[in-house]
Amino acid sequence: MTVESLQGEVRALAREREAVILAHNYQLPEVQDVADFVGDSLGLSRQAAQSEGRTIVFCGVHFMAETAKILSPDKTVLIPDLEAGCSLADSIDVDELLAWKARYPEAVVVSYVNTSAAIKAESDYCCTSGNVRAVIDSIPAEKEILFLPDLYLGLWAERVSGRKLHLWLGECHVHAGIRPGDIERVLAEEPGAELLVHPECGCASQAMAFAGEQTHILSTEGMLDFARSSRHDRFRVATEVGILHRLHGELPGKRFEPVNPNAVCRFMKMITLEKLRDSLREWQYEVTVEEEIAARARKAIERMVATG
Ligand code: 13P
Ligand code: SF4
Repeated sequence: MTVESLQGEVRALAREREAVILAHNYQLPEVQDVADFVGDSLGLSRQAAQSEGRTIVFCGVHFMAETAKILSPDKTVLIPDLEAGCSLADSIDVDELLAWKARYPEAVVVSYVNTSAAIKAESDYCCTSGNVRAVIDSIPAEKEILFLPDLYLGLWAERVSGRKLHLWLGECHVHAGIRPGDIERVLAEEPGAELLVHPECGCASQAMAFAGEQTHILSTEGMLDFARSSRHDRFRVATEVGILHRLHGELPGKRFEPVNPNAVCRFMKMITLEKLRDSLREWQYEVTVEEEIAARARKAIERMVATG
């Protein structure tokens, strides 16, 4: 079966089932192309909260589908592969968070959206890379903050907010693999190119030293917005390579190359067109969140969706 006929089947099933297909910027190109909305974590959360269909099929990783379910408890949320997890979200469990909170009982907990629903339920605020600064700025200056789970995003948040945070030492294996040496190499190789860096990258601290000149630290959607309005036409991109599909598709006159072509998230790539078709056809796999956990997590997620 060709890609086009599979895509036709997916669209027909989505219509029949009144389902909205949401896809993250790191999804396979053929999955992005069949989605109703493609975006970053913040944009997808907002779409999930607003979408009109009775069903959301989430082409992304599990914590994203959980977030959609928490924001839309009356809708059915499906994920085409339940194994699509996230190594960063797995870097902290609830017992570890409770022990950390016990050491800083007065502190406010800010969790990156890349966390399980159970972690969000123990958090005061959630944020994404798109609004982390705005979320931190909204917290009274005298409050101590526990920031989790991504160390590199936390270091960047400290820098842009000017506040000292307590940081969890988690990392995303894909972004941590984009190293400080990569920044130096790219700047030397292509001095005229603009460098777009996701704050989860292991090179983000290094990139901060150049930030504002030709280096820009941005969420995935922030990269698209930046490139769209930039007068430059050559960019090197430090994040998961899936974003290149949208950058090339939406800005065909500009050139984008990955800083590290091996930055591939195997969890994101577990969602294939076949699995998406089967998900709609067989009504699988339904994502559920215990109501007691969802109610607590919702407060932190709603603050995230409303901020920035
Ligand atoms: P954003 O899409 O919010 O930039 O996040 C990237 C990411 O790693 C999601 O897993
Ligand atoms: Fe998680 Fe990293 Fe994959 Fe994003 S790229 S889903 S943070 S493992």
